[in-house]
Amino acid sequence: MIHKKLRLGYGKEKINKIMDLIDYSIKSNFDLNDDRIQTAISVLNEYVRLHEKNNYDVSYIKEFLLLHELKKDTFTGGIIEESKENILRNVKGNFEDLSFSRHSIREFTTDPIPKELIENAIRIASKTPSVCNRQAWSVTVVKDNSLIKELMKIQSGINGMAENMNTLIAITTSYEYFGNIHERNQAFIDGGLFAMSLLYALTYLGVGTCALNANLRISDEITVKEKLGLSNADNLIMFIAVGHYQETVKYPKSNRDSVTKIVNFI
Ligand SMILES: Cc1cc2nc3c(=O)[nH]c(=O)nc-3n(C[C@H](O)[C@H](O)[C@H](O)COP(=O)(O)O)c2cc1C
Repeated sequence: MIHKKLRLGYGKEKINKIMDLIDYSIKSNFDLNDDRIQTAISVLNEYVRLHEKNNYDVSYIKEFLLLHELKKDTFTGGIIEESKENILRNVKGNFEDLSFSRHSIREFTTDPIPKELIENAIRIASKTPSVCNRQAWSVTVVKDNSLIKELMKIQSGINGMAENMNTLIAITTSYEYFGNIHERNQAFIDGGLFAMSLLYALTYLGVGTCALNANLRISDEITVKEKLGLSNADNLIMFIAVGHYQETVKYPKSNRDSVTKIVNFI
């Protein structure tokens, strides 16, 4: 729904999966007012609205919604359109503004990202805390679009987004910094913290980002590491796509759970 080049009918498998899960929730007597279920229903409604606007038949979804009387819409699904100007102003505000103005951006302009901007973001992110200040992280920046396409084909989580992507970051942490069995998860924890700082730093410096998973099959991981010139000791944390915002930025609503749902004071 966010892509400029609209792919009508796209994602049918996922839509069917959502409908199956809603069906399952109904049969299991789950609370249909739950935020996540309501968001799933809202996504279906948005999908219908978008397709009807473009004269594309999605009656199978409409029938499903009618059958289960799910026409009420919380409008928590779908996309938001915001001007680049607005985002760039907000990211320079306080931390709360920055946090709520970071979105996963999946379409960029073709303008290159200056090397200095990436270096500045890494400098800011390097203040990330790490166990015993070991700073096990490394950043590999790929600017070669054909290599980006190869890597993203293996990663397979972004469907065509790599076409115009001119900057891809791979974050790794080295196991060489961790010697003890009790530290077996630390490379992921410190790497994850650093990755988040880098996402915020890049956002603060005015560019769009999208975190991309590096959950690869072992054989694919070996290939990716080879292509990036990484060693066996390097632990792939994740990728980050980086690019300049388009004038009008579209991103999914990505609703969040309420604080009361996730907090437990003891
Ligand atoms: C570790 C990690 C891996 C992710 N991998 C992907 C991915 O492969 N493809 C994608 O489109 N988005 C990916 N995302 C982005 C999430 O979908 C996104 O963060 C989430 O939907 C919340 O939206 P927001 O970032 O706009 O707040 C990833 C995010 C994280 C943190």
